[in-house]
Order: sequence, then structure tokens, then C-alpha cells
Amino acid sequence: MITSSLQTSVAVFALIILHVSALDTFKAAVYEHAVILPNDTKAPVSPGEALFLMNKNIDILEKAIKQAAEQQGAQIIVTPEDALYGWKFTRETIFPYLENIPDPQVNWIPCQDPRRFGHTPVQARLSCLAKNNSIYVVANMGDKKPCNSGRTKCPSNGHYQYNTNVVYDKTGKLVARYHKYHLYRELQFDVPEKPELVTFSTTFGKFGIFTCFDILFHDPAVTLVKDFHVDTILFPTAWMNVLPLLTAIEFHSAWAMGMRVNLLAANTHDVNLKMTGSGIYAPHSPKVYHHDMETESGKILFAEVDSHPRNSPTYPPAVNWSAYATSITPFPGAKNSFRGFISRDEFNFTKLSESAGNLTVCQKELCCHLSYRMLGQEGSEVYVLGAFAGLHGKRRREYWQVCTMLKCGSTNLATCGQPVETALTRFEWFSLSGTFGTQYVFPEVLLSKIKLAPEKFEVLEDGRLVNKNGSSEPVLTVSLFGRWYTKDAHSISGGTSNSATAYLMLPTLLMIVTLQYTVMA
Ligand SMILES: *[C@@H]1O[C@H](CO)[C@@H](O)[C@H](O)[C@H]1NC(C)=O
Ligand SMILES: *[C@@H]1O[C@H](CO)[C@@H](O)[C@H](O)[C@H]1NC(C)=O
Ligand SMILES: *[C@@H]1O[C@H](CO)[C@@H](O)[C@H](O)[C@H]1NC(C)=O
Ligand SMILES: *[C@@H]1O[C@H](CO)[C@@H](O)[C@H](O)[C@H]1NC(C)=O
Ligand SMILES: *[C@@H]1O[C@H](CO)[C@@H](O)[C@H](O)[C@H]1NC(C)=O
Ligand SMILES: *[C@@H]1O[C@H](CO)[C@@H](O)[C@H](O)[C@H]1NC(C)=O
Repeated sequence: MITSSLQTSVAVFALIILHVSALDTFKAAVYEHAVILPNDTKAPVSPGEALFLMNKNIDILEKAIKQAAEQQGAQIIVTPEDALYGWKFTRETIFPYLENIPDPQVNWIPCQDPRRFGHTPVQARLSCLAKNNSIYVVANMGDKKPCNSGRTKCPSNGHYQYNTNVVYDKTGKLVARYHKYHLYRELQFDVPEKPELVTFSTTFGKFGIFTCFDILFHDPAVTLVKDFHVDTILFPTAWMNVLPLLTAIEFHSAWAMGMRVNLLAANTHDVNLKMTGSGIYAPHSPKVYHHDMETESGKILFAEVDSHPRNSPTYPPAVNWSAYATSITPFPGAKNSFRGFISRDEFNFTKLSESAGNLTVCQKELCCHLSYRMLGQEGSEVYVLGAFAGLHGKRRREYWQVCTMLKCGSTNLATCGQPVETALTRFEWFSLSGTFGTQYVFPEVLLSKIKLAPEKFEVLEDGRLVNKNGSSEPVLTVSLFGRWYTKDAHSISGGTSNSATAYLMLPTLLMIVTLQYTVMA
């Protein structure tokens, strides 16, 4: 009898271990933080003043972390990029905010051993927040790394300065450090020598991490998913919304779907800079999201997420993005196309002139096909189908292939592609596809008043983006946003000295541009 009950308890114990060591789902939290900014200053503040401001911001993050852990039982919380001090800096004025962040291999719990790597009060506090609340904490801060200023690449102050994400596990141990690679007009920071591929494993899946503008590029973002097979991406960002294609919730949810990975996106909140839009996005659909241009407040979001989405019954199938579009004879429409702009990109547009129909519009190698049926089109509203293939924007670095159906600003066709926030027209049916040359396509659907359409649309295996049984709300844009990374202008593979040189020249160029334009930091 003793033996058998012992066996039973061993079995029960084994089951409990199994259960603890592999969670099927986990509770995630992301916090959109309205950062308290420093006063404008041309001279650097003292380290004490810098710490004082960062502590004021961490006081607010602390409330969110406690709420996530205590009230919601969350395993992990993501906080935004620049959440401790904002973004308006020079190399000199950011310096008092920076700490030397060691490689996680040193196996360090700053909360227990705060003096081991010099004066690191921010790291100690973040580590204690993770440890005291028994939750993984993801934060963004500044790293400084001494270098030999005699060396050509070492900046004149003898330090590399990096925009850095840190992750502490629930014992307070530093488990990940990531230096942002694709800086967006951040003159205060340096570009690391090469893109860093940072992952770590937990009982609730394998994680990868990168920051903001990194999401537009192949490395490290795509490599983490494709070659390192992470389950969930941690994504601190300070993203300035740009309609119609690059609003935070719209693009980030589309990236999660296109890459078929979980994405935990925490944005900074600053309505003056149009920074808002955080979410917890699963491969088949957004779980929860927040977009708020009305208030100045922060916001915490929670959702239950699959630890290993690839094993889930809702995991979407792989898509051949050009299969349908290359198999059909193009519809009419291309002959009536006209030129229009989304930001600086010249699109070919064609008008949806009937309440239902089939249309094609092409640009270069890309043809976009649309089949649609509107429900009660408002006479005052005009929609077009657009195609763009080429190097995007002023910098002309990223090669985009975009098919988009969007609402124009007015009945004047010159307004097509301009930002529009509301619509009245509903679609009973739409099906959008394109002859993409890339397998990296992100499906976007944005509804009136900047809302997502969770569970209301899907991508078929042949690459058609279709709505599910009638969209209930009016539509702003339906897009397939393709990135053809190998056609990028400065496609960086291996050698990085070029990009470093280019970067070092940038400050001079950009001094002329006012820093108001800190889009998508
Ligand atoms: C900004 O300046 C005001 C007035 O001098 C001061 O009260 C405030 O504490 C400063 N804020 C920060 C973040 O230093
Ligand atoms: C963590 O807990 C310890 C001991 O309970 C306390 O002294 C410390 O202030 C706490 N730190 C944080 C950041 O909550
Ligand atoms: C996608 O489908 C097209 C047309 O059927 C085919 O030619 C192409 O090889 C497919 N691409 C992939 C990556 O399977
Ligand atoms: C669009 O094409 C489909 C199939 O190619 C056809 O069944 C449908 O009638 C067409 N719709 C319109 C409005 O022309
Ligand atoms: C835009 O469409 C017109 C009409 O079909 C075509 O002649 C032109 O080449 C297209 N533009 C580009 C850049 O492909
Ligand atoms: C689709 O919508 C129609 C009418 O709104 C409804 O009768 C039908 O049951 C719906 N089908 C599905 C699969 O939801």
C-alpha cells in the first residue's frame, strides 16, 4: 500500500512538474506609457537630475507592473521604447541617463548585487521590480560602452551609446540585452556593429526582441522568426502614426499575421506626436489593442496568449502570396489608372466606380486585383485601388510592394492617399491579391475611426485577403503591405562598415532638419 501511494504521489508530482515546466498559454501585459519628458536643455543635466526624472517614470511603470502581476497574474510585461526619458537629445544631453549594461552571460541579479558593475541604479530598480513581483519585465533604456577614442570608429567622448532593451526574469536576473540596429533619426545613439539576434527561453515559449523601426527590416526581425523559431516577439516602440498604411496597431497586427508569430507591442503615448497604439497580437488575429488620441493617459492591456502558437489549432497555414494573383487574367481598370501619392510614394490608382466589380491596377512588376461589393456606398465617398512597387520615401532604402484599397480624402481624386480617419461605406465582400515577388507580405485592414477588425478577415492559402461574411463596420483601408528585403538599396549582409560610415555622416545632414520630426523612434 505504501509503495502504491508513493507511486501515485510520484506520478502526481511528475504531472505537476510537467505542468509547471510547459505552459500552453500565458498571460501577457503591455503598458502604453505617457512618458514624463525632461525640460528642454542644451547643456547636459547632472546624473542626479537624470536619475530623478527616470525614477519619476519608473514610479508609473511600477504601478503597471504591480497591477499586471498582482491583479492579473501576468507572466510578462512589456514597457515602451524611450519610456524613461523621451527622445529629444543630442549625444551629450543623453549621456547622464546612460548606464553600462553588461552582457546577460555574466549571470547577474542587479537587485541582489547592485554594485557589481558600478553605479547602475536604474538596472537595480528594474530588476527589483521583476523580482519583487515575480514577473518578467521588459524595459528600454540607454547603454554606454567605453571604447578607445583613438580608434577611428570610437566616438570622441570615448563611449558607444546604444538604444537598448533589457529583460529581467522573475528572479530579477538580466536575461536579455538588445541594442537597437535600425535607428530612426536618433542622433544620440550609435548603430551596433551588426544586427543582434537576441532570444531567451521560458516555460511559456521562446522569445525574441527588437525595437520600433527594426520591424521594417529583415535583420534581426525576420531572422528571429524564420531561423530562430521564436514563439513571441517583444516589441518596445515609440511609433508615430502615419495613415493610411503605417498606423501602429494596423502595421504591427499585420506583421504578426504575416510572420505568424505573437507580437507584444508597447508604444509610448504622446498625442502631440501622434504616438499611440499598443497591442497583443496573435498570428491569426489581434487579441487586444489600444489606440487613443483623446486622452493623455497611459493604458495597460492584458491577454492570454498561446505559448507555442505553431502547435495551436488556430495557427494559420503558410501563404503563397502570389498564387491566386498570377493564376488569373487581369481584370479591367489598369487603363484608367492615374497617378497619386501616399506620402512621397507615387502610386498607380484606379477608381472603384461601380458599387461592385472586379479591378486590376499595376505598377512595374506588381499587379493588384480587387473583387468587391459595397453595401450602401455613400455618394460623398470615393474609394480607389492602388499599386506601388519601388524604393520607399525620401531615403529610398526599403523596397516596398503594396496593394491597397483606400478611401480618398474627398471626391477630388487628388486627395486619394491622404490621411482619412472616418468612413461610412461598408463592404459586403472584398478580395484583394497581388503578384508579389516577396514572401513577406503583411495583411492590413483598418476600419473607420482607426479600429482593427479582429476575426473579421482572413488570408487564404493562395494569397487572397478576404473578409469573413460581411464586414460590419465602414472601411478606411484594406492593404497587402509587401517588403522585398533583397531589393533594398543598402541591403546589408555581413559587412557593416558602410552603414557605420553612412551613419556617422547622417548627423551633419540631419542637423538641418528640426528634431520635431522624431517619427517612429
Ligand atoms: C522643469 O523645470 C521646472 C521649472 O524650473 C521644474 O519645476 C521641473 O521640476 C523641471 N522638470 C524636470 C523633469 O526636470
Ligand atoms: C523590493 O522588496 C524589497 C524587500 O521587500 C524592498 O526593500 C524594495 O524596496 C522593493 N523594491 C522594489 C523596487 O519594489
Ligand atoms: C506560388 O504559386 C505560384 C503560382 O501557382 C508558383 O508559381 C510559385 O512557385 C509558388 N511559390 C511558392 C514559394 O511556392
Ligand atoms: C467578378 O468576377 C467574378 C469571377 O471572375 C464574377 O463571378 C463576378 O460576376 C464579377 N463581378 C462583377 C461585378 O463583375
Ligand atoms: C501606371 O499605369 C499606367 C496605365 O496602365 C501605365 O502605363 C504605367 O506604366 C503605370 N505606371 C507604372 C510606374 O508602372
Ligand atoms: C453570414 O451572414 C448571413 C447574413 O448576415 C447569415 O445568415 C449567415 O449565417 C452568416 N454565415 C456565417 C458563416 O456566419
